[in-house]
Amino acid sequence: MTIPGFLRCCLVLVAFASGLTLLATPASADEPTIDPGTYEARRDALLDSLGEGAAIVYSDGSETEIGHRVNSDFWYLTGFNEPGAILFLSATGRERDVLLLAARNPDVERWEGLRPEITDSLTEALGFDRIRRTSYLDRQIVKQMKHDQVLHYVGPLVGPGGPLPKELELYRKITARVPGASIQNSSRFLENLRMIKSDDEIAMVRQAIEVTGRGITDLLALAKPGATEFELDGALEASFKRQGAQFLAFGPIVGSGVQSTVLHYRAKQKTLQQGDILLLDVGAEWGHYCADISRTVPIDGKFTPEQAEIYDIVLEAQEKAIAAVRPGVTIHDVHQVARSVIREYGYEDYFMHGTSHHLGLDVHDVADYSQPLRPGMIITVEPGIYLEDEEIGVRIEDDILVTRDGRVNLSADIPRTRAEVEAWIVEAKKQAD
Ligand code: GLY
Ligand code: MN
Repeated sequence: MTIPGFLRCCLVLVAFASGLTLLATPASADEPTIDPGTYEARRDALLDSLGEGAAIVYSDGSETEIGHRVNSDFWYLTGFNEPGAILFLSATGRERDVLLLAARNPDVERWEGLRPEITDSLTEALGFDRIRRTSYLDRQIVKQMKHDQVLHYVGPLVGPGGPLPKELELYRKITARVPGASIQNSSRFLENLRMIKSDDEIAMVRQAIEVTGRGITDLLALAKPGATEFELDGALEASFKRQGAQFLAFGPIVGSGVQSTVLHYRAKQKTLQQGDILLLDVGAEWGHYCADISRTVPIDGKFTPEQAEIYDIVLEAQEKAIAAVRPGVTIHDVHQVARSVIREYGYEDYFMHGTSHHLGLDVHDVADYSQPLRPGMIITVEPGIYLEDEEIGVRIEDDILVTRDGRVNLSADIPRTRAEVEAWIVEAKKQAD
């Protein structure tokens, strides 16, 4: 049955109000959200790509301070957060999308929170053909295998050193029991869908970026000699939460002085000193969508001539690389533009990482990097130079949407030029006083 978006939205809210744990940001009228019907449309799009056979996606993600959080593929296809859930898709079955939920357990729910009953209104609200318990999985598989023996693996590919994905473990058991059953690598289909962001998704990333920019301002207000990096980190996280962003997109990098030259510095133990440069690589998450912003700021409000020289080279590399972003070019091409600027100034050996990655539900989002850029992709552009002996590390990172005509810098409102960042920190401190 088709139900209008608004009604569906209400049904979802009713379902969630009845005790469902959903790790998404609560929305007020002017905050971006993903329309609940979107998830059903994504499942349909994936099923259309598969053409035949079945695909299973486990929800297993990570434990957070507020409970389990499903993995990004499962979230992308369901918008539903419950530990132990399984998505069963069948391109040829009578039931095309079935959500399997773990059995309810009053003892566990007493401690961890209530979980929903399976009702018609929940099934309708989430747009599934059926919702069942996971104890039905075997029967669901046998039913499917009677008429169609293709099993699609739609998750990310992992190398032999990584753990075997749960779906492939299950598929191996099925192929051992069902003659003729085969496993097909269909990883690219979900990857292709996730690589292109809809307007709703772009709005979510924009919101995550806005929260991040404000969070950096709140952090900079405290960036003085004597402050600790972990204190700044705490201010950033508090600001994100105050603005309604429950999660960090990734562990923030807050590195001052020599620590600005450590690419993925996580310790945050140092005390800031006069003259330090401060490298921030941070991002909030809005309803699962990530921002990823790097800014480098002089804590005294003025770059030294040595810091300024490096800053301007990185900025030139970034601006030229951003200008190169357009449909048809690859991430490798964008990297070569940034690299050639830094090479010209003789600092190529001090730029040790790539320039770009895709951004979305994951900070390093799923993508096929060999594919040329297309409208709707969001990538970062983040060159850097790291001089340990001089205690100068500079990285400047923005989040860039590929459009039909070229690009839009989604983080253009966050101060970026040398003069802008100098004024930014001075102003942030003034407002805090
Ligand atoms: N923001 C961290 C990274 O891109 O690796
Ligand atoms: Mn990044």
